[in-house]
Amino acid sequence: MKYLIDTGNVEAIRHINEFYPIAGVTTNPTLVAKEKTDFWKLIKEIRNIIGDDKMLHVQTVQTTAEKMVEEAKLIKETVGGELYIKIPIGEEGLKATMMLKKLGIGVTMTAIFTPQQALIAAKAGADFVAPYVNRLDNIVGDGTRVVEDIVIEFDNYGLDCQVLSASFKNVEQIHNCALSGCHTATIAPELFKAAISHPMTDAAVNGFTSDWKAVYGDKTILDF
Ligand code: G3P
Repeated sequence: MKYLIDTGNVEAIRHINEFYPIAGVTTNPTLVAKEKTDFWKLIKEIRNIIGDDKMLHVQTVQTTAEKMVEEAKLIKETVGGELYIKIPIGEEGLKATMMLKKLGIGVTMTAIFTPQQALIAAKAGADFVAPYVNRLDNIVGDGTRVVEDIVIEFDNYGLDCQVLSASFKNVEQIHNCALSGCHTATIAPELFKAAISHPMTDAAVNGFTSDWKAVYGDKTILDF
């Protein structure tokens, strides 16, 4: 499973990109608006931090297919690199996806809550579909089950589309998606640290340090 960071915060992206093996960044209008800054400055800075080879998923804010395509082309021309235009599922979005695929522009169909939405998005040519796990769990749905069903559907029909699970609030949800065979997960910055932390790990590391210091003091391997 590939990991992406779901944020528009450049400091968080800089940190996570330095310390974690991420495959890219996802944003959406809410995450961008949170930064209260110039859109192009922000998107270009993100691209600059992650480089051209890592994925950048940027969402259109248009509501008609033609305008979505126009915006997508402008984003592609302006930031370039490994780029995917996020488009919410809907009739206009599906039409825009089919148009963008003809132009060779990558698409992530977002705001996915059901396996049928995902299957139709994939048939339209979407490269990724983004189901919202925690938002489903919050309405007593089963986010992981939806992800699992989408993975099965794509396997059944040999579809190239990847499942990019989104909207996580805890590590358990990420783990369950990984078990389902989900291809990619986009995660808020704070969940990266949570995913690698464990009190037993801390205890083990403290034990190594105190056992070493008891014999060698402050000397390190570099000092021998
Ligand atoms: O891009 C979709 C994702 O960011 C939604 O996450 O936390 O707002 O449910 P959340």
